[in-house]
Amino acid sequence: MFLTRLVYTSTIADNFSPQDIEAIIEIARKNNRKHNVTGMLCFNRKYFLQCLEGSRTQVNKIYYNILNDPRHSNIIMLDYKEITSREFSEWSMGYIPESSLTAPINLKFSGTPEFDPYKMSGESAFQMLLALRESVPSL
Ligand SMILES: Cc1cc2nc3c(=O)[nH]c(=O)nc-3n(C[C@H](O)[C@H](O)[C@H](O)COP(=O)(O)O)c2cc1C
Repeated sequence: MFLTRLVYTSTIADNFSPQDIEAIIEIARKNNRKHNVTGMLCFNRKYFLQCLEGSRTQVNKIYYNILNDPRHSNIIMLDYKEITSREFSEWSMGYIPESSLTAPINLKFSGTPEFDPYKMSGESAFQMLLALRESVPSL
């Protein structure tokens, strides 16, 4: 049961509605708790940036579901690695809203003040999630 961490980004579907994000977080927390998967999800009404941690089997299964979800597209894996311990063990799926994705935090971890994870390395994206986690209530 090797621990792994996967980081990916994606773009919301054209017909994405505000209720979709609530539904995604609800199902993510329910499923992730059941399968001991933890992580963080950033969303700015344009892009998603998500980190999933857990057993290799469960992270791969959930990522497979995510890849086939019509609520987003252009899904790009930024990083995937075996890890020795989790960084988000207190969050079944912590949610980082657009209001937290400020110009200073984007500038610290990317080339521009805008949130655009397609222009970030996997390591920068992960470091940004680490920097933001303190402000996210554990759930
Ligand atoms: C951006 C995004 C993030 C998601 N994150 C998760 C997640 O962390 N865990 C999860 O189980 N499903 C997640 N989902 C939902 C899955 O794509 C899929 O709908 C769900 O796993 C199906 O669960 P079910 O088979 O129990 O209905 C996410 C979907 C999107 C669009």
